[in-house]
Amino acid sequence: MAGNKTFTMIKPDAVADGNTGAIIKMIEEAGFRIVAMKKTRLTEERAGQFYEVHKERGFYQDLVRYMSSGAIVPMILEKENAVADFRKLIGATNPANAEEGTIRKKFAKSIEANAIHGSDSDENAEIEGNFFFSRVEKF
Ligand code: CMP
Repeated sequence: MAGNKTFTMIKPDAVADGNTGAIIKMIEEAGFRIVAMKKTRLTEERAGQFYEVHKERGFYQDLVRYMSSGAIVPMILEKENAVADFRKLIGATNPANAEEGTIRKKFAKSIEANAIHGSDSDENAEIEGNFFFSRVEKF
């Protein structure tokens, strides 16, 4: 059965451009409830850990540099069928392929600076949520 939680973070480009509020509005209007949220910044080391699965990819170093370049807003979200529904709401990784009405279509600048992250499975949603939030911060 599909789980009811997912993890997201608004990335440095979108936060720096002042799009945090507009993105949160789209998330809430799509029926997601915010379970945990904060504004923080990753060091290069922490960004490297978060994206460790991509460490063999050519874009890894740039991604780590970019993800530690400014503030981010991580969140845990709740909704039925959360992981799949959220990936639909954010759109394709490459904004050139993102559908109209998606967050990336509206706010992403490039395949790297693509405004927002969304977990790709229930298992990763759990791991990624725990990377940023302790049990007492979730309610
Ligand atoms: P995200 O969904 O957070 O997961 C991995 C991130 O790597 C992706 O979003 C992009 O920000 C970044 N990235 C940069 N280049 C690529 C690429 N060629 N393919 C996939 N992801 C990329």
